[in-house]
Amino acid sequence: MESERNASEILENRQGEALDLSYSSLPGAHKKLYLESYGCQMNFSDSEVVASILASEGYTTTREIEQADLVLINTCSIRENAEQRVRNRLTEFKHLKSNHPEMVVGILGCMAERLKKNLLEEEKLVDLVAGPDAYRDLPNLIAEVGTGQRAVNVLLSREETYADISPVRLDKGGVSAFVTIMRGCDNMCSFCVVPFTRGRERSRDPKSILQECQDLFNAGYREVTLLGQNVDSYRWNMLSKGDIINPEESAMNFAELLCAVAELSPELRIRFSTSHPKDMTNDVLEAIARYKNICNYIHLPVQSGHTDVLSRMNRGYSREWYLERIEAIQRIIPDCAISTDIISGFCGETEEEHQATVSLMNEVVFDYAYMFKYSERPKTLAERKFEDDVPDETKSRRLQEIIELQTKHSAERNRARVGEVYEILVEGPSRRSEEQYCGRNSQNSMVVFDRKNVQVGSYVMVRITSCTSATLIGELVE
Ligand code: SAH
Ligand code: SF4
Ligand code: F3S
Repeated sequence: MESERNASEILENRQGEALDLSYSSLPGAHKKLYLESYGCQMNFSDSEVVASILASEGYTTTREIEQADLVLINTCSIRENAEQRVRNRLTEFKHLKSNHPEMVVGILGCMAERLKKNLLEEEKLVDLVAGPDAYRDLPNLIAEVGTGQRAVNVLLSREETYADISPVRLDKGGVSAFVTIMRGCDNMCSFCVVPFTRGRERSRDPKSILQECQDLFNAGYREVTLLGQNVDSYRWNMLSKGDIINPEESAMNFAELLCAVAELSPELRIRFSTSHPKDMTNDVLEAIARYKNICNYIHLPVQSGHTDVLSRMNRGYSREWYLERIEAIQRIIPDCAISTDIISGFCGETEEEHQATVSLMNEVVFDYAYMFKYSERPKTLAERKFEDDVPDETKSRRLQEIIELQTKHSAERNRARVGEVYEILVEGPSRRSEEQYCGRNSQNSMVVFDRKNVQVGSYVMVRITSCTSATLIGELVE
């Protein structure tokens, strides 16, 4: 799962004016919402739920913050610097508000959940605070602010999955969409704040997931990414919900869900994130191998290559277990790309333990990696049990070593793809030129090629002719 995107994403509702007309009698009619999101894909997906809840109140979205009646920032707490970035942004909003006193500023997401009332009381940065399970309450919270109060709802839920809410798609492309399949996390990795900000793990009704994927396909989308902090523990118990009587079919696991989504159409690509090494089973791998439209790409965060560090991290697997899972992927799915997350300088990490991460990287040769310096988070097990004792320079130096090695590996992986022909789902113009289109192969590599008269959202065959460390360059195969 990609955490912490560098650029904030400004979101716009493509339905635009139409909503203004049809909701003219609603409380938010003619009001404009500006929504900015940080953090992981789940946060971006939640922003689409928020836009949907507020669209039913009559709000339309705008990209011009100056024009907004309501400014919401959906935030991330995963590392200290993620929170710092949001604080800087909130300070900017505060200045803006001094010229626009009517503007309501609200904070959503993980930082809202972690800091709760502090943001209102001590820091006076915002008017409204809503945690990840409280978005249905936003209309009430906004109304409370309207009466001159500051409003807070940070209750976490054991049930909320927003299953019945049809998200307003805020991306521009119309080709690829996120679909949240579960919320929360029960894992308690010792470094991680997510269980505190997102609450207990719960899965979403597969019927609503399948319906959402079908609706996306009907609207022209050709790729869905199924999201959860630990998708391998997806489980829907049909019996307890009174849906299905046959005990054979009493529960649905992640592999079964993947197959059910894949059956919707061979033209719909399926991706998912994030897998957990301790829970990823062979039946998930076999489902990927069986269906061509389930992409050959797995994000499998390792965090560290040393068993003792993994044990302090409370990850629930050893180095050997992880490497066995990698072997299983390579055995069951021919040409599957693998990416990972790595933390450098976790509590007590010795030079030898760091070198074990380097050696694991050399053994696996990941296609891609997200790499981070350990950042101590309040309330986590690590904060309570261990000392954050690796000096900052050492963390940085180790991180640098890891980044350099990964850059080499990514380039190596890309070079090995030169000469191959891949099916690409066309996403739109490349960043550099309107004359070129880009899209991904099943393995998730970005491929750029001359557009000719190819349609966005279609599948094309592209032969790879060269590469950089981040992108493959190719030509259409007629
Ligand atoms: N659920 C996913 C990860 C979610 S957070 C999983 O279990 O893999 C995304 C990544 O952020 C993690 O994989 C980890 O590498 C990193 N991360 C989480 N907490 C961190 C911390 N306190 N300091 C540095 N990196 C952290
Ligand atoms: Fe955090 Fe671990 Fe849960 Fe991932 S699995 S969200 S790292 S506690
Ligand atoms: Fe950040 Fe919360 Fe996601 S802490 S990584 S936005 S679950």
